[in-house]
Amino acid sequence: MYFGVDYYPEHWDKNMIGEDLTRMSKIGINIVRIGEFAWHLMEPIEGEYDFSFFDMVIKKAKENNMKVMFGTPTATFPAWLANKHQDILSEEIDGNKRVFGGRRQYCYTSKTYRHYSRKISKNLVSHYKGEETIISWQVDNEFGHEGSDMCYCSNCHIDFQNFLKNKYQNIDELNEKYGTIFWGQTYNNFDEIPIPKITITTHNPSLRLDWSRYRSFTLNRYAIEQIDIVKANKGPHQKVTTNASGGFFNKYFDHDEQFKELDFSSYDNYPVWGGLVEPMPPEEIAMTLDFIRGLKDENFWIVEQLMGAQGHDVIGYLPRPNQAKMWAHQGMAHGCNNMIWFRWRGMTRGAEQFCFGIIDHDNKDGRKYKEVQEFIKYMKPHKEIIDSKIKSDIAILYSFDNVWSWRIQKQSSTYNFNNELIKLYRPFYRKNLNIDVIPTSRDISKYKVVLIPNLMIVENELKARLDKFLEDGGRVIFTYRAGIRDTDNNINFKETIPCSLREMVGARVEEVESLGEGISAEVNYNNEIFKAKVWRDLLKLETANELVSYNDLYKDYSCVTENKYKNGKVYYIGSSLDNKLMDLLSDKVIEGLDLDVIDSPENLEVYKRTLNNEDYFFISNHSDKELEFNGNKFKPYEIKVEKDLC
Ligand code: GAL
Repeated sequence: MYFGVDYYPEHWDKNMIGEDLTRMSKIGINIVRIGEFAWHLMEPIEGEYDFSFFDMVIKKAKENNMKVMFGTPTATFPAWLANKHQDILSEEIDGNKRVFGGRRQYCYTSKTYRHYSRKISKNLVSHYKGEETIISWQVDNEFGHEGSDMCYCSNCHIDFQNFLKNKYQNIDELNEKYGTIFWGQTYNNFDEIPIPKITITTHNPSLRLDWSRYRSFTLNRYAIEQIDIVKANKGPHQKVTTNASGGFFNKYFDHDEQFKELDFSSYDNYPVWGGLVEPMPPEEIAMTLDFIRGLKDENFWIVEQLMGAQGHDVIGYLPRPNQAKMWAHQGMAHGCNNMIWFRWRGMTRGAEQFCFGIIDHDNKDGRKYKEVQEFIKYMKPHKEIIDSKIKSDIAILYSFDNVWSWRIQKQSSTYNFNNELIKLYRPFYRKNLNIDVIPTSRDISKYKVVLIPNLMIVENELKARLDKFLEDGGRVIFTYRAGIRDTDNNINFKETIPCSLREMVGARVEEVESLGEGISAEVNYNNEIFKAKVWRDLLKLETANELVSYNDLYKDYSCVTENKYKNGKVYYIGSSLDNKLMDLLSDKVIEGLDLDVIDSPENLEVYKRTLNNEDYFFISNHSDKELEFNGNKFKPYEIKVEKDLC
């Protein structure tokens, strides 16, 4: 099991490196992740490669019995390259060309950038192919992060038109699918098609969905080209990964497509960043970890685990003593089996002066250094459990097409896909049930319950698998707007919502209302009144029965329904409901199923792992209060791996 730090030896005096590595190994660090921003150091002048600095670092790592994860440096290109080839720079929606400075400001489509990226990666990786100390390559750094998934330059424009030509073959087909008859937007040729830059009102929704798909295509084409280069030039003992940043659903790339090319998934886990005044809630952190595990249905690495406060120009919440340690524990509970912290020491110069690491600017072995030491000592004996495969009976499904469709037209000013997904995930998380977060394309037959938030675009193939799943006794929850669209991002015609899912749901949506800022509707569940927000579908029962009704003028309509379908059950939730009501509904959904619900106080997470038929529980106290569970008291942010629960 690896415990490591992100180390930037190039930031420091050469004489400090040996001492740094020794200080690391003293607390149990056995791997350093290096190199991912050091292109200029490796190629200071075009074509003149020099890896001597890293040869020296690797030699010193070896002397300290440490392994290395090495990053290919394409996230930060050298100034000489930008100076020579302006076409590598990406453009914003208003036509502003990004300048050198900052990072990730390259265009994925640029043939020039692809050419130079191939060269640096090939030279670097082949230089170290025989180096036993390097056990893994990280390709680039955080694809698509910080807005780098978007570029509106002329190269992207032409490439997008070719992408469409390839997809539709003839322009009439595209006109028909997009409905360009509307507002007289019919195209005679593919080269008349715009990219969705700023215009009056808005662009065609089908064009925008194709543009999102194109962004994903160009990013993944670049990423996979890089992955392939690393694979072709590396040593057989070296693995290949890349690090995903958080905020997956705000990015224009299909993670699944990229991650299937990797040997293992890696994640950068920052429960708080920038000016946030408080961290993400525990269920949201948990969901992100489950998402990463879901990419390959395997345990994963965290290669940047937050230890101190973070931010470029503004910083917010300071993780409390033991809180960041507890987040690392939660990460391991959910499937991280190798952990690397960001970063060894805060840098005094450059843009990340306020991204704190294990060691602060005073260079003393402070509180965080000790916490990391304690953590490693505590977790090491649990290696076998940490390596075990996680089994979940519940899955939550997403598709990027659908997420992008929501981003294009959110329909309610208060709609946010991530929030709605968490709304559905949280009640099952609160029952301490393991949940997989996976793309809709995956096999669902092994689950007992499948949760599908706001799935507007339902492909026939998925519908058929859901049908089979229900025939086998499964339970499915759909939420509002399910089924309304086709794959061209158009509304289904001559169908009653939820369209192809209508028979499964056993109810129809007669009218809908968007509930914007500050607006809510009352709903009634067993004579208790709750609030519905964001959106409401007004449902009429067909074969379903009502669980929740509206409590206003629309009393005759249902808000939540339950339908026995084949041997399973289908739930439809027509609004974004109070958490308390979601808890009650989730009780109902799992009624009669053999699931190991664990009742724990709010903010005390209990995550079950199983090894050789024995259960182990990773307990994390997410609160600043002492909490009691299973006859034990848990101090603020305390962690524990326990074998038996009585
Ligand atoms: C990550 C990034 C790191 C560093 C860190 C600061 O998103 O991968 O390079 O910038 O944030 O918190």
